[in-house]
Order: sequence, then structure tokens, then C-alpha cells
Amino acid sequence: MRKLYVIGMGAGDPEYMTAQAIRALNEIDVLFVLQKEEEQQDLVELRRVICERFIDDPESYRVVEAPDPPRERGTASYRDAVADWRRRRADLCVRLIRDEVGDGERGAFLAWGDPALYDSTLGVIQDILARGDVAFEYEVVPGISSVQALAAGHRIALNRVGGAVQVTTGRRLADSGMPAGVDDVVVMLDAQQTFAELGDEDLDIYWGAYLGTPDEILVSGHLSDVAEKIVRVRAEARTRKGWMFDTYLLRRVRR
Ligand SMILES: C[S@@+](CC[C@H](N)C(=O)[O-])C[C@H]1O[C@@H](n2cnc3c(N)ncnc32)[C@H](O)[C@@H]1O
Repeated sequence: MRKLYVIGMGAGDPEYMTAQAIRALNEIDVLFVLQKEEEQQDLVELRRVICERFIDDPESYRVVEAPDPPRERGTASYRDAVADWRRRRADLCVRLIRDEVGDGERGAFLAWGDPALYDSTLGVIQDILARGDVAFEYEVVPGISSVQALAAGHRIALNRVGGAVQVTTGRRLADSGMPAGVDDVVVMLDAQQTFAELGDEDLDIYWGAYLGTPDEILVSGHLSDVAEKIVRVRAEARTRKGWMFDTYLLRRVRR
């Protein structure tokens, strides 16, 4: 039987790799790398650093690279575009797994951060198995997500005593504002700096960019005091590096 690992590689620092992730990497025969059209060189580089640093025998595995199918932008609805992209990605992965992983061999995908959080790898694998085109077993190795890196960077817990935390996207926050009944909200995938639109809410913000990397930036404070600073720092960093990855916690102030 073929086996696949989906390995969380951590969200920026090679030292986020867990002992379990390192053990799994050392068992693989094939590492699949789906190259995204616009993938940042720094992210590609981290994958290389991790393999070089943690795989004991460089001859023990081969790397199979394939271009990730591009996502259609602008035409269909966001959900339809994602569903279509996932279908094309599944077609590609079926071919890769069938052609590149022999019976008894082990293949792996490295997922940025943790595979359970805004990552399509597990969904694609489940789609492939549901189709029945190729048989394999698979194991998921958790990783340190950007959310955990954010909390550690700011030295905070995400929840308050007995409270709930919601993880959401910039798009949802822009559509609906702060969710009702939730006091602590983690926002990911926000290219639009939606926090800056919430100026009249009584919120603290804990913002982090390039978490876990040498370029990590952390800013926190009352949203009305620091929103402008974050917008400025974010724009400068984005220009300097050519890309941006940021995550933040919005916390209703209890007075
Ligand atoms: C496609 S999601 C992947 C999330 C990933 N699976 C995780 O566990 O963090 C990408 C989003 O994660 C967040 N992110 C990932 N890595 C980050 C980092 N090092 N610093 C800040 N935010 C990060 C950003 O919000 C980014 O838009």
C-alpha cells in the first residue's frame, strides 16, 4: 500500500518543525512540491532549508516538482473558483501519486504552518480518495501555525478565561464586521487591512507579520492608537520584501 504524509512545516521558523515532522520526513521516498505561480521565494527557500537541515540522508528521497494549477480570478464566484481549482489540483495529484509513489513507498506534501488551518492539501486528498482513482493511506503531522506563532510572539493566550476564540478571514471580517457574541477573533488572509475599517470599535489588536522569520514584526495596542502605524509599517515592509504575510488578533476591550 502507498502511504502519504501531510506534514505541517511550521509557519516561518525551521525550528517550528516538530520531532514527529522530522521523523516523518526521514521516512519518505518522494517529496511533492507544487509550485505556485506567484509563490514567494522565501517560502520556497524555507522548504529547501528544512529538507537540507532535517533529512539525514539526502539520497534517501527524491523531489517531484509540478506547477500548481493557477486559480481563475475575477470571473466565477470565489467559492466556484476555489472548487474548480481544487478539482484541477486533485487531477494533478492523482497523476503524481499514481506515477511517482510505488507500492510500499511513502510520499509527502509539506503544508505551510499547520495543515488544518486554511490549507487545501487535506481537502484535495479527501477528494482524491472519494473518487477512488488511486488507493493510499495517509497520515497528518501537525505543525506550528501562524496563529500559535502570533500568540507566542505577543506572549498572550488567545482566549480569555472560559471564553471562545474565532478564527476567520479578512474577507469575512470585511463583509460582516466583528462577529456577534465573540470577543476574541483571529484574522488571517487579509490583504485589505480590514482592521483599519473598524476604527469606532473598542478593540485591542495584536498584529504580526512574517512571524517566526528574521523579519518578524509585532505591533499591539488599542486599535484606534495603532491602526495607522500598522498600515504604515505593513506598507513599508511589503514594499521592501515584495510580499506580505500577516495575522492578527482583535480583542474586545472589557471595561
Ligand atoms: C493560506 S493561509 C495558511 C495558514 C497556515 N496553514 C498556518 O497554519 O498558519 C496563509 C495565511 O496565513 C497567515 N500566515 C501564514 N504564515 C504567516 C506568518 N509567518 N506570519 C504571519 N501570518 C502568516 C497569513 O494570514 C496568510 O495570509
